[in-house]
Amino acid sequence: MGEKLKNKVAIITGGAGGIGGAISALYAAEGAVVVANDINAEITEKFATDLSAKLNCTNIIPYAADVCNREQVNKMVQDVLDQFGHIDILVNCAGRSKDALLHKMSESDWDFVINLNLKGTFNCVQYVYPFMRQQNQGKIISLTSRARMGTIGQINYSSAKAGLVGLTCSLAKEAARFNINVNCISPGFVLTPRLSQMEEKHLEARVQLNPFERAVQPEDVANLALFLATEDSRNITGQVINIGAW
Ligand SMILES: NC(=O)c1ccc[n+]([C@@H]2O[C@H](COP(=O)([O-])OP(=O)(O)OC[C@H]3O[C@@H](n4cnc5c(N)ncnc54)[C@H](O)[C@@H]3O)[C@@H](O)[C@H]2O)c1
Repeated sequence: MGEKLKNKVAIITGGAGGIGGAISALYAAEGAVVVANDINAEITEKFATDLSAKLNCTNIIPYAADVCNREQVNKMVQDVLDQFGHIDILVNCAGRSKDALLHKMSESDWDFVINLNLKGTFNCVQYVYPFMRQQNQGKIISLTSRARMGTIGQINYSSAKAGLVGLTCSLAKEAARFNINVNCISPGFVLTPRLSQMEEKHLEARVQLNPFERAVQPEDVANLALFLATEDSRNITGQVINIGAW
């Protein structure tokens, strides 16, 4: 166990997922109180119980809430503040794609993906930000994607992830005078438990796109998210940092 995030409180949305789960684990191992948010209560509870047992720690708090629901996000932020008094780090990992070529994409799939990936992040940032301003410190990290540069069949997801870059760059400028860093992590293909179920040949093709031609693991992304959450990155803001293929 390390101490790089000792006395810090972090909310990680999608925190029981592949990348969010790895970030939750590393932040908890580095001493942060980790509020692992995810949408499904049972899965979130199980994730926190299993990880707490694995790390032999008590600093992982499961919190089920839908980032698309502003009332639930507001309540989560208030509950965390009531219990711990501060929120130092927000990591926006909740996200999903629903792929289709434009001529086959339904309006509901467009709305779902924009609402979850872009508006969901906006919701969390908007409720946490006032308290970070008052604290005069904070770190906001959002998961964008290589898809922001354009991918066939992902017009909704690309648009949402490109939108997160705009959110990040604008907020970084607004937030700098309050000592708040705002950055994006932009992975290519990350070998999460969910994506590792993909057919071998598709998986291999994605791995081959990486400069090192080896898989990027969720733990690689977590290491970058740790750097962005500490004072080691205090002069880095408004940036999109690629990991894996770009
Ligand atoms: N895995 C990759 O290759 C990759 C690449 C680039 C970007 N990303 C991005 O990284 C983030 C994490 O991806 P992942 O691969 O770990 O996915 P994942 O599906 O393993 O994890 C996402 C988590 O978000 C949760 N979630 C979904 N909707 C939610 C909601 N409304 N409220 C709260 N939680 C919700 C899910 O339950 C899940 O646990 C996503 O934003 C994704 O777009 C992933």
